[in-house]
Amino acid sequence: MVDSSTNISNILKEHRSFAPPPEFAKQAYINSLSKYKEIWQAANNDSEGFWKEQANSLNWFTNFTEVFRQEEDYHFKWFLGGRLNASYNCIDRHLPSKADKVAIFWEGEPGDTRQLTYMDLHKEVCKVANSFKRLGVTTDDVVTFYMPMVPELTIGVLACARLGVMHNVVFAGFSADSLTSRLTDAKSRFVVTADGVFRKGKKLPLKDTVDASREQCPWLEKVIVLERTGQECSFNKAVDITWSEFIEGSSDQCDATGFDSEHPLFLLYTSGSTGKPKGILHTTAGYLLGASVTSKYIFDLKEDDVYWCTADIGWITGHSYCIYGPLALGVTTLMYEGAPNTPDWGRFWQLIEKYKVSKFYTAPTAIRSFIKYGPHFPKQYDLSSLKLLGTVGEPINPEAWMWYQETIGGGQCPVVDSWWQTETGSIMIAGLPGATTAKPGSATKPFFGIVPQVVDENGREVKANSGGYLVLDKPWPSMMRTIYGDHNRFKAQYWEKIPGKYFTGDGARIDDDGDIWIMGRIDDVLNVSGHRLSTMEIESSLVSHESVTEAAVVGKPDELKGEAICCFVTLKNGVDPQGLLQQLKQHVCDHIGALARPDQIIFTEALPKTRSGKIMRRLLRDIATGREISGDTSTLENVAAITQIAEGAAQNNHERH
Ligand code: WT7
Repeated sequence: MVDSSTNISNILKEHRSFAPPPEFAKQAYINSLSKYKEIWQAANNDSEGFWKEQANSLNWFTNFTEVFRQEEDYHFKWFLGGRLNASYNCIDRHLPSKADKVAIFWEGEPGDTRQLTYMDLHKEVCKVANSFKRLGVTTDDVVTFYMPMVPELTIGVLACARLGVMHNVVFAGFSADSLTSRLTDAKSRFVVTADGVFRKGKKLPLKDTVDASREQCPWLEKVIVLERTGQECSFNKAVDITWSEFIEGSSDQCDATGFDSEHPLFLLYTSGSTGKPKGILHTTAGYLLGASVTSKYIFDLKEDDVYWCTADIGWITGHSYCIYGPLALGVTTLMYEGAPNTPDWGRFWQLIEKYKVSKFYTAPTAIRSFIKYGPHFPKQYDLSSLKLLGTVGEPINPEAWMWYQETIGGGQCPVVDSWWQTETGSIMIAGLPGATTAKPGSATKPFFGIVPQVVDENGREVKANSGGYLVLDKPWPSMMRTIYGDHNRFKAQYWEKIPGKYFTGDGARIDDDGDIWIMGRIDDVLNVSGHRLSTMEIESSLVSHESVTEAAVVGKPDELKGEAICCFVTLKNGVDPQGLLQQLKQHVCDHIGALARPDQIIFTEALPKTRSGKIMRRLLRDIATGREISGDTSTLENVAAITQIAEGAAQNNHERH
């Protein structure tokens, strides 16, 4: 059922394990497996009691009166009756003791730097909040950010939180079409962007993309443009306003008022198994609690840490672990604007040395690139400040894990592999660095209050070491509350597949020690360099090209990206494929964004289909990976298609970009 047979056999061979380094364990919040088990068990027995106690770590303007309620139709509510302000929790409450502590070290790709203390951050956030008010932004609005990784993005997001206005960050690598669909779904009247972004030494336009989008979104009222690269871009005075004009004259004081625990905090769009991205909605108290409590225990964050999560704020990892988690704890974070290989593959290690980073959180795809392109770089820098390493986004292959642990961590740092999703809001499964014995390739144990199970299609738990669907059996505070504007999809996708349990869409197995091994998606969702893409989205993009009749997209294992995008395309009668390859790749980039660029396109006369007309992706996956065609082909309508496609693929296989 779970289509990761090669993955399973690989990780079944993995027997290495690493106990927490004793030096680390000594100082850790949770310093033994028995302590972890005791707390996990207590949280399992009384999860409301557990979360109630954790909620003391937040600052409440009004205390909540009820911890949890599940209302009809899968409406979940946490900390009912409570009122709080997320921005106050991330900034104001630290001011009495940490006004001069650095909140954000920032480094631009060209090497320019800034640093903001908690007091600076307070002033900037207040100024921007007041500026939003002046523009007429209200709590009914959604403010969309399409920005580089610059402090103004964090400031803007926290200013929204301060005002109880939903933010909607769209990753700046997405195309105008992707931005348009998100602006449309969110009915956003305000966009914050920049003239451009520095990426791999070049200036890439952002404002131009927003302009292209705006033609499709006539309801857009204001576009705020940060001057980042200084590049030319068109400016329409009726709509556009520069960042400097936007904040000019605004006061740097803005009282934070309390919002209901369930007040919406943000939307973040992610791909599902259909072509339409889902607006994942998170609310104030539960989300903030999940982000901060997991940051504290899983990264073991302490007062003097310098913490760096390399994710872009355009993804959930950036929301929870660049902004809300660490800032709620009053920790110093590093934010870097650019690419890991600019000016060369040593950039991350140079930054770790320069800022004395102690806790470092990155993605397996980055680690694999470091191994491939820059294994000699880490040696040139002093990485001795590092105390802990984390990974997220996709299964990490054991060899990459080992390299990370040895070459970057010098064998001294615990490595935590953390599993979670945009929907879960915060980490669900990960080792606790002072307690859990790590196994390369396993995300190991659930966080407190989290109850993962591996079940069959009837919801029955499967035996140890058998593959199945990963579900979560208990609600948790940072869970998504709905898909914006589509509660039915939320119910159907997450709660009704295995009734009453949260359906993750991932396959997994649990080994004899109770450690969890994630086996990848079981739906039509690809994980390309840790980014989620739907095969349907890419297919509909291809089909929108005038020369294409039909397309099927499958994932194929890739050394660097985890999964590569392999497309089978049927052209209209009489169309010459000559020259179309690059055109179609570009077409998908224009449509979705460069992150969706097909790695391989195979032109075929027909696609293999069942008699009911369903494309048999399983066969296409076999062909894409060069495997023998496995399993049952008796339902196949057009057997000839298969041999013909397989031949085409074999010819085509060397052709990769
Ligand atoms: C999907 C969620 C929130 C993290 C960033 C991606 C995969 C995530 C792991 C991991 C194996 C992982 C899953 C999950 N995934 N972390 N440690 N090991 N797989 O967020 O875009 O919402 O994607 O990423 O397949 O369902 P996302």
